[in-house]
Amino acid sequence: MIPTQIHPLTTLPVLETARFRLRDHRADDLDAMRPVWGDEDGMRHLSTGVMDDTRIRRRLDEAVATAAAVPRRHYQLAACLRGDDRPVGGIRLDVEDASTGYSGVFTMARHLRGSGCAPDIGWLMLKLAFAELGLTRVWSMTSVANTDAVRAITRFGFTPTGETERYFAEAGTTMRLVTMEVLADTWRAMPVPTGPGPA
Ligand SMILES: CC(C)(COP(=O)(O)OP(=O)(O)OC[C@H]1O[C@@H](n2cnc3c(N)ncnc32)[C@H](O)[C@@H]1OP(=O)(O)O)[C@@H](O)C(=O)NCCC(=O)NCCS
Repeated sequence: MIPTQIHPLTTLPVLETARFRLRDHRADDLDAMRPVWGDEDGMRHLSTGVMDDTRIRRRLDEAVATAAAVPRRHYQLAACLRGDDRPVGGIRLDVEDASTGYSGVFTMARHLRGSGCAPDIGWLMLKLAFAELGLTRVWSMTSVANTDAVRAITRFGFTPTGETERYFAEAGTTMRLVTMEVLADTWRAMPVPTGPGPA
């Protein structure tokens, strides 16, 4: 008997709220991601630091390559407003083991910061983690100095679990970080975010 070949699903499920959609990155996202990952002010607290075009291109290439890996462990996703395919932000989910994911590199374009968009993006990333991948816990780390981000992340279910200090080679800096986590049951009990209304 010829054994049946199993092809694990690599296609990203539909991840949409009324206002936002998460999709896989493409190499042609460079122009759209430049004001996001290339924004000094927005990236100053991130483990990656601000990215020039070479690093943005490398990160997009990595995103495309890891999206095709089987089994897939890395989801570097583009956040788009519904009806517009151009990314206005991004978020990452890494599958660490059968139960746990790590989320990071959550960044919105400057014009959308402080507009109430973050819960949609966070909720969708957690939908991928909990409803689609069956994880039970997602954790994250944010610079303690990044109070906007800590507040935003707490709004979509994360709870602080402690503090730590780490050196990030990519950014060339040591940061004091607050570790945070959210459990699947917490996410399931949350309402689907409705976004901040028409732009
Ligand atoms: C992290 C980040 C994505 C969070 O997004 P954010 O815009 O700060 O968070 P929200 O979308 O939840 O916006 C919330 C703020 O918008 C305000 N707001 C304005 N209009 C709003 C509306 N219609 N609905 C809800 N909130 C609204 C809220 O009052 C809130 O301000 P407050 O925290 O002072 O009370 C964003 O700050 C960012 O890109 N930062 C740079 C990168 C970064 O540091 N990332 C963190 C890595 S871990």
